[in-house]
Amino acid sequence: MKITLSVIKADTGSVGGHNRPSNAMLAKAQEEMDKAIKKGLLIDGRVSFTGDDIALLMSHTKGTDHPDIHKFAWDTFVETTKIAKSQGLYGAGQDLLKDAFSGNVRGMGPGSCEMEFEERASEPFVLFAADKCGPGMFNYPIFSAFADPFHNAGLLLAPDMRAGFTYNIMDVNYTEADRVITLKVPEDIFDIGTLIRDPNHYVIESVIENASGLTGAVVSTSRLHNIAGKYVGKDDPVALVRTQKQFPSTGEILSPWATAHFTLGDNRGSHHVAVMPVKQNSIISYFDGPTIVSAAGYCVHDGKLTEAVDLFDQPFWDEIRTRATNKTLEMRAQGYHGPTMAGMDELEYTGVVDNLKRLDEKFVVRTHKS
Ligand code: F6R
Ligand code: MG
Ligand code: MG
Repeated sequence: MKITLSVIKADTGSVGGHNRPSNAMLAKAQEEMDKAIKKGLLIDGRVSFTGDDIALLMSHTKGTDHPDIHKFAWDTFVETTKIAKSQGLYGAGQDLLKDAFSGNVRGMGPGSCEMEFEERASEPFVLFAADKCGPGMFNYPIFSAFADPFHNAGLLLAPDMRAGFTYNIMDVNYTEADRVITLKVPEDIFDIGTLIRDPNHYVIESVIENASGLTGAVVSTSRLHNIAGKYVGKDDPVALVRTQKQFPSTGEILSPWATAHFTLGDNRGSHHVAVMPVKQNSIISYFDGPTIVSAAGYCVHDGKLTEAVDLFDQPFWDEIRTRATNKTLEMRAQGYHGPTMAGMDELEYTGVVDNLKRLDEKFVVRTHKS
């Protein structure tokens, strides 16, 4: 059966700062989801949260970018915003940047990633949801999980994946339209590296398996800063990854997350911290962070979703959470000096830039008497 998986997420307000949506908001999203399943718009769906973002995971047969699916998600987020406002929550409606819906949530604030495929006999996949970071946070783990035998042992041990993968990479600083480059592993591996080493500019959008042409992963690539023209919260991306057989195994897909790699995000979207893999429905805390990512494993069959397996809820990841904490604390120990804060072009708040203009006028060029 050909189905579409769509994930559409948004921050529409939270309790206690930018920490988590309220139970009433989540109940509302669930109620809307149940109605949409009953009406037949969706085959199935799940509501979850990661930090202050609500993610709607939906299965249906309408294909990607379908206006009815996007409208449903938009309308649901309008409803959760109403609840957030009625409860006096912080940042109510934060990611709804446009007044009226116009066919697709892309460019309107919410993040989305979708894929349509013919279901395999068993179709395992992982929904990753992150908070307090940009979409380039996924560059390292998504690239490595597919293309690097350090993580994808199947590249060496199983014949299926030896033809490699194709990466579609988006230039997210280009705001007129989608500007994308398509490169392949193994032949273009160094060119891919040249781009994705700059995760604030070049973002992996999707991964296709070369041998089968099947889509293995999709990532939400929107940058709120570029839509709004100012800081309105970090993008807090989501990704869908199909696993096993012609794709890396679920464990291989999880492997790069043990690095707890550094990313830009956290407090005021402007600090480098280590990504912490967390359990489902985790909150934001220390320094408006740290940057977190959750991973829910599912199987989908005839569009029906199983219960989620909480992939980072296992003792192994406790050690990684401690490692992430220690890496973040090492960065935080030097406060705002050097590489801890974003570079000038990525600083999300304008305070430093404005202050530099004022200070610039006070500089004097010293003249030496001969
Ligand atoms: C980061 C984030 C927070 C806020 C910070 C200040 O994505 O959401 O770090 O930037 O709490 O928030 P405001 O400016 O809303 O008071
Ligand atoms: Mg927020
Ligand atoms: Mg968020």
